[in-house]
Amino acid sequence: MTSKLYIRTFGCQMNEYDSARMADVLAASDGLAPTAHPDDADVILFNTCSVREKAQERVFHDLGRVRALKDARPEVIIGVGGCVASQEGAAIVARAPWVDVVFGPQTLHRLPDLIRARRATGRPQVDVSFPEIEKFDHLPPPRVEGASAFVSIMEGCSKYCSFCIVPYTRGEEVSRPFEDVLTEVADLALQGVSEITFLGQNVNAWRAPSPDGENGVADLALLLEYSAEVPGIERLRYTTSHPREMTARLVAAHGRLPKLASHLHLPVQSGSDRVLAAMKRGYTALEYRSVVKRLRAERPDLSLTSDFIVGFPGESDADFEATLRLIDDVGFDGAFSFAYSRRPGTPAADLPGQVPADVARGRLARLQAALDGQYRAKSAAMVGHRERVLVTGPSAKDPCELAARTDNNRVVNFRGDATLVDRWVDVVVTGAEPHSLRGELASQNR
Ligand code: SAM
Ligand code: F3S
Repeated sequence: MTSKLYIRTFGCQMNEYDSARMADVLAASDGLAPTAHPDDADVILFNTCSVREKAQERVFHDLGRVRALKDARPEVIIGVGGCVASQEGAAIVARAPWVDVVFGPQTLHRLPDLIRARRATGRPQVDVSFPEIEKFDHLPPPRVEGASAFVSIMEGCSKYCSFCIVPYTRGEEVSRPFEDVLTEVADLALQGVSEITFLGQNVNAWRAPSPDGENGVADLALLLEYSAEVPGIERLRYTTSHPREMTARLVAAHGRLPKLASHLHLPVQSGSDRVLAAMKRGYTALEYRSVVKRLRAERPDLSLTSDFIVGFPGESDADFEATLRLIDDVGFDGAFSFAYSRRPGTPAADLPGQVPADVARGRLARLQAALDGQYRAKSAAMVGHRERVLVTGPSAKDPCELAARTDNNRVVNFRGDATLVDRWVDVVVTGAEPHSLRGELASQNR
């Protein structure tokens, strides 16, 4: 009987991507097939996140729940990967001795070996090292599901924002070679992929040696340009980007490359210069506004989403008001917003002026109301407009309808034939709902 793999993923898109790679690796090495139920799994993996405290605590809660499964079937392998694993290492096994393997974001390709060693020795295996970029050389080619695919082009982050744990858990920035990435894009296109999203914690910091690049170094602008030339590729995205890495070349690419989506996720975190400096973000609110202005000069319809943190140590009412003003001035099309979560081991954890939880909660509610208002206004403004969309599959609400994604990453639901799945069609937006749009196939597609 085929052995089964259950993976529970916490956190960001990078983790979603890594989980898919874990499934690929174990399918290739041991023929493991995915299951949605931990109860009938032979290998249970938790891909964890430690960016905020809540996500971190949930892991131990969930580990507690699978303990009974391990007691009943001791041959089941329980593994913990991702950022909590990277941070805690062997401490995880000390706290939860029923865990068999602990691996980091950079060692997931070693999973088959770790599991084998666990079975052979009877001892838990821990490997949370950072063996540079070797991971990509040891991964099977990604499985293609649909016409949209992610391509991870770099690992780690070297920005060391004072609140953030990522540089410590995922290591410093390492870029994948230009040729490797382009080959992966071309392979995906040959398998029917027409939309690519380049992934990295700081994806616009990607740089790789190439004779085609300026001074022998290729940047993301060049990678996007070359990828746009790959036959079959219709739309390109990249996430997450850092405002400091929005170079003139990359800004210009938004004007020059029609295949680049009219949407950019550009985390700002705060609108107060005092807070931005304490966060060590490396830009002022004015510099952020200026990047946005340059981007919109190239691409007037560019929709922007962002990340915000409220309640950073020392944030005053005036600082918070500055953030609200920035939101008002820039006009965002959605955002992830969080109350600051103190991460032991980061510089901000020791800063004075930690903001009381109720104050942070109040600010978060006001900020989210402002951002929600902007999101809805943008949805309403889309009604009546024609959009070129990639059909992703049946609609989640009504399986007789289709769902597709707009350029600015909204789901639009409409009536249409199942043969349109994975194809590009034009829809006219007919209505705006809180979390999605309604549409109608434009006449030329019928
Ligand atoms: N690379 C991205 C950037 O340019 O900022 C961010 C990656 S980070 C994993 C995702 C988001 O989590 C951040 O943008 C930030 O808003 C949030 N975040 C990170 N550390 C946090 C903390 N200690 N408390 C609250 N939110 C946090
Ligand atoms: Fe974290 Fe800042 Fe990097 S938010 S992932 S240290 S850009």
